Amino acid sequence: MNKDVIIACDFSSAAETFAFLDRFAAESRKPFLKIGMELYYAEGPQMVRELKRRGHPIFLDLKLHDIPNTVRKTMRVLSSPDIDLCNVHAAGTIEMMQAAREGLTRPDGSRPLLIAVTQLTSTSQDRMQKELLIGKAIDETIIHYARNAREAGLDGVVCSPLEAGMVKEACGADFLTVTPGIRFADAAADDQVRITTPARAREIGSDFIVVGRPITAAADPVAAWRRCLTDFCPETL
Ligand code: C5P
Repeated sequence: MNKDVIIACDFSSAAETFAFLDRFAAESRKPFLKIGMELYYAEGPQMVRELKRRGHPIFLDLKLHDIPNTVRKTMRVLSSPDIDLCNVHAAGTIEMMQAAREGLTRPDGSRPLLIAVTQLTSTSQDRMQKELLIGKAIDETIIHYARNAREAGLDGVVCSPLEAGMVKEACGADFLTVTPGIRFADAAADDQVRITTPARAREIGSDFIVVGRPITAAADPVAAWRRCLTDFCPETL
């Protein structure tokens, strides 16, 4: 799959999401969309089906973390609306990630891309060490979890764009890095900490950037999306 900009649809209803997407109606390219827990729990699989029907590639960002059997069976259900990308927590173990991959694989052998969350970007090294009792440095933990994900047969990880280079170095150039924490150089960081620009994320090696408020809260979301595409993946335009 080509490099792309994934818009985080952090909306709480279908109506709000469709009102936002109406602004893209004149575009021949359908934006890649991320549906997270808020929208999925509010509107369910019907929402995914409708966005697929409208032609959008979908990243279903539900970050599964449970016993392997439950994750396998849940992934079987989630793969049916034909999503393109989904994820689990690497902390669920290699066995759980393998179960997720098996559950996602359709009878014809095809499956959506599957990636793992290593350490959430909201987790500081201090909290990880004091609350989770993981004594290592956070970068070491991230690389270890990424290697586990690769061993389980996953396609990549979600990480900060600033970590994409070291993940590629440890796991190979074709191991996907999907990176939130993207801001334009002339904009506010909001609550994000380890951020960079679309152009820099490209240089470091991200395969997909996940962009929320810089697009969804922009006065002209279509222009902001196009600016991300121009800076991050101009060859796809
Ligand atoms: O609005 P903003 O661009 O900060 O949105 C980033 C999106 O990526 C949000 O949906 C957020 O939940 C998600 N995300 C993140 N950091 C992670 C994992 C997911 O910001 N480590």
